[in-house]
Amino acid sequence: MRQRKVKNEQVRLASLEYLQVQNSSEIRSRWSEFLKEKNSAFKGDIYLEAGCGRGHFLAALAAEHPENFYLGAEGRSSVVLRGLELVRDKALDNVLYIPEFILDIETFFADSELAGIYLNFSDPWPKARHAKRRLTHRDYLKGYKKVLVPGGFIEFKTDSLALFDFTLDECRAAGLAIEECTEDLHRSGLPARLVTTQYEDRFRLLGKPIRYCRIRIPAKSDSELPY
Ligand SMILES: C[S@@+](CC[C@H](N)C(=O)[O-])C[C@H]1O[C@@H](n2cnc3c(N)ncnc32)[C@H](O)[C@@H]1O
Repeated sequence: MRQRKVKNEQVRLASLEYLQVQNSSEIRSRWSEFLKEKNSAFKGDIYLEAGCGRGHFLAALAAEHPENFYLGAEGRSSVVLRGLELVRDKALDNVLYIPEFILDIETFFADSELAGIYLNFSDPWPKARHAKRRLTHRDYLKGYKKVLVPGGFIEFKTDSLALFDFTLDECRAAGLAIEECTEDLHRSGLPARLVTTQYEDRFRLLGKPIRYCRIRIPAKSDSELPY
């Protein structure tokens, strides 16, 4: 996708450097320590939204849970800038952006560093030959499972039925349990309907149902899995 030109983008990004983690692979395996240095009040868990866009969802969660830390990975710089400006304007001290595309999550995080991963309206990559680029392809799921704590979760929302079906199939192939699942989140009583993303709001206005599932990472005692 072509990036949108934003006035003074580089200067504005540089002025918000303090909200970005540029060298995330160097922080791998010591995220907790690093985030405590950033915010001494941080005592909770670390969550990641991969493909967080302009960060509305992360900002809402972060405001509700000041004890946790929320990381947003986003590869498009013009979108990162909007997200950083939102975090600055809301004066949140528990959100940081990783301004990169996540390709191999294990280069960013070591085993069990994250409590949860959010995948909201991930690019659907509709062509079969691009299936490996979908963020719920089994190769990605395998990485998420490693970097999540035992008993952690992945929450996934999409408007795309094809991507939703693909995701459920990939979870089955990876031996991951689906804890919650609905083809119409906003007609369900599930708590995930309460904090929405920017894309979710847009699709709801168009009357499109939001598909959602919550994938549970097995606790240590769970039976052997394919990965
Ligand atoms: C359709 S938007 C959804 C944004 C937001 N999650 C929402 O629901 O409003 C998908 C975003 O994911 C970003 N993205 C796609 N693949 C990514 C990856 N591998 N790592 C980080 N960001 C990614 C895109 O640049 C785009 O901004």
